[in-house]
Formats: sequence, C-alpha cells, structure tokens
Amino acid sequence: MSTNTDKPVLLVGGSGIVGARAAKTLRRLQPNLPIAIAARDRSRAATVAAEVGGPTTTTAIDLERRDLGLPAGARYSAIIVLLKDTSVNTMTYALDHGIPYLSFSDFAFDIGPEIAQYIQRPTSAPILMLGHLLGGIATLTTLHLAKELGRVDTIEIAGVIDPEDVGGPASQADFERLANGGVGALIRKDGKFLWANGADASRRFIDVIGVERNGQALPVLDVASLAAATDAKTIRIDLAVREGGDKRGSTELVIELTGERLDGTMSRIRYEIVDDDVYGRLSAHGAALATERLLGLAGGPPVKPGLYHPEGLIDPAYVIERLRQFGARLRRV
Ligand SMILES: NC(=O)c1ccc[n+]([C@@H]2O[C@H](COP(=O)([O-])OP(=O)(O)OC[C@H]3O[C@@H](n4cnc5c(N)ncnc54)[C@H](OP(=O)(O)O)[C@@H]3O)[C@@H](O)[C@H]2O)c1
Repeated sequence: MSTNTDKPVLLVGGSGIVGARAAKTLRRLQPNLPIAIAARDRSRAATVAAEVGGPTTTTAIDLERRDLGLPAGARYSAIIVLLKDTSVNTMTYALDHGIPYLSFSDFAFDIGPEIAQYIQRPTSAPILMLGHLLGGIATLTTLHLAKELGRVDTIEIAGVIDPEDVGGPASQADFERLANGGVGALIRKDGKFLWANGADASRRFIDVIGVERNGQALPVLDVASLAAATDAKTIRIDLAVREGGDKRGSTELVIELTGERLDGTMSRIRYEIVDDDVYGRLSAHGAALATERLLGLAGGPPVKPGLYHPEGLIDPAYVIERLRQFGARLRRV
C-alpha cells in the first residue's frame, strides 16, 4: 500500500451538499492537496471545483463498473465516498489499488457487504467506516468527554436540525431506505443491543435553548463504536427536527454522559455544539478531518491497511480544536 499525496484524493459525490463542504474544509486544511471531484453532472462539479480552488479537478464516474469508468492510468491517493454506493465498487476499487477508503453513508444495518469485502482482502487498504452521526464528530467529542470518567454508564446524544434541512437527493434517498427498511434503530439498553421500534425509538430531551424536543433514534454506527470504546450500558443517538416555522438555520448537537469519575464520585456531563449551517457542514468537517488523517497529513503517519472506525484513528482533542477554528460554538453546560 502506498500513500502519495501528489495524486488527487477522489471525492465521490464531491459536488453534493456534504461533498462541496467537505472539499472546502479539506482545501482549508490542505491548500496544496490535489482533489478530484467525481460526480455525474460535470458542470456542477466544475462550479464546485472553482469555489474550492487550488489543485482541484473534476472527473466523471460510473459506479456500475469495477474500474469506475475512470480515465485509464489515472491514480488517486484515496477514495472518499460521500454517497451510498450500493454496488460496493468504490471499495473494490480501493482494495484493487491499495488506497485508503472512506464510506460515509452506511447505517448500522448496511455494513455486511463491506465487511465481507474487507475480510477477503484484509491487508490491501485502510478502510474507514464513517457512517457516524455528523461524520464522527459526535462520537469523537463524546470520547473526549469520557476521558474524565473511570466508568461510563450512559451516553445519550441528540442532534437538532431545521425542518428544511433534508440534505440533497442522496441524503433523502438514504432516509427513505431507512424508513422502508423496517429494522428499527440500533440502541444499547441495559447492556443489550436492540433494534428499537415504538416507545424505545424516541426520547425527549432539552435542546440548547431550553426547548423540549422529541428525538427519533437512528441506526448510526456511533452506538457500536461508543459501546466498544466505553462499555457504557445505555447508548443512543436521536435526531429531532424543529417543528413548523421554528427555523434557526443551525445544527445542534447535545451530548450527555453519566458515570463515575476517577475519584469515585458520580458525574453528569452535558456538552453542546452549535453550527450555523445545515447538518451537512459539521458532517463535512468530520469527513475532511478523517481524510487528512487517512493520508497521514495530520495526527500520525499514513494509516496502514485495516478496518477502522473514527475513534481508532483520530484524536478527539484535535477535532474539538479544529471545530472551534471552523466557527462551531462548543460549550460545557
Ligand atoms: N455520516 C454522516 O454524518 C452523513 C451526514 C450527512 C449525509 N450523509 C450521507 O452523505 C451522502 C451525501 O449527502 P448529500 O446531502 O450531500 O447528497 P447530495 O447533495 O445529493 O450529493 C450527492 C453527490 O453524489 C453525486 N452522485 C449521486 N449519485 C451518483 C452516482 N450514481 N454516480 C456518481 N455520483 C453520484 C452527486 O452528483 P451528481 O448528481 O452530479 O452525480 C452529488 O455530488 C448521503 O448518502 C447521506 O446520507 C452522511
């Protein structure tokens, strides 16, 4: 496996709501990194490329083909897939070429085919499964807070978004897939992993301005990551949509943990992150920070072949520092 950042990072879906933002964050972090924006509509991709600036190009891509229909002889430093690739050809391409791969659109019930691909060729490429809320930002911030605790008992995370903040067509298709899938939401309750429906699938919580919200649990990968990292017996991730005319143009994240401090006393931690954009922007920051890390441009050398979640690669303190620089408001309550 070789990582050569003279070759472009292939941002599949790089012209979308998340993709364009991820490209811009990546450019801000790495002014000289070549980026290739891959999508079907080349003119929209070209508009985004011009906004991103620096060494940014565009390319057409065909997800139906094992070679993705990319130009013969083209080589990339990584393949970052900001859409749901139901063919898994993008991952096959990463394994064929021994380049880092990031998937961003998998719910917890989606990952079987990718895991099987990885098991076939475990030493070919680093594979980062980042189907986590807000591109891993929720889990990484939670793990930063959990360092204060010797034992974590409960982790409850909630996102709050505007009613209009439905993402682009690719996001909407994913939420439709979720609604039609009928598996429920992955939660951990009293030590057991459950696919929750009905009452277990919703939770009331207080948002950052003191309004009580109703969140619906999501089957995102955070629950599995946080359980493995902390062994908290109760873990859930909920999403609430502001109602009616209550439009704020911001995305909120509320993280609450309980547990025992290192000195033996009990603790309740509440932490809030607010960003003045659609939820795609915080998510894009997460994707860009993960891309930088995979390539070895921050936080350590290029990542070796293996199967990863964000907490195995990215230093939570670094993410918090960067989020502040990017303009998000973070506060301990
Ligand atoms: N993990 C997370 O935190 C997180 C957060 C937000 C969103 N997401 C996921 O991120 C994905 C993108 O969301 P979004 O709101 O940015 O969607 P979007 O605005 O619809 O963007 C989709 C992008 O993919 C391209 N695309 C779509 N189908 C394609 C195909 N068959 N071949 C090649 N390119 C294709 C689109 O360009 P063309 O139409 O020109 O091809 C566009 O660049 C969704 O899967 C969403 O669920 C994950």
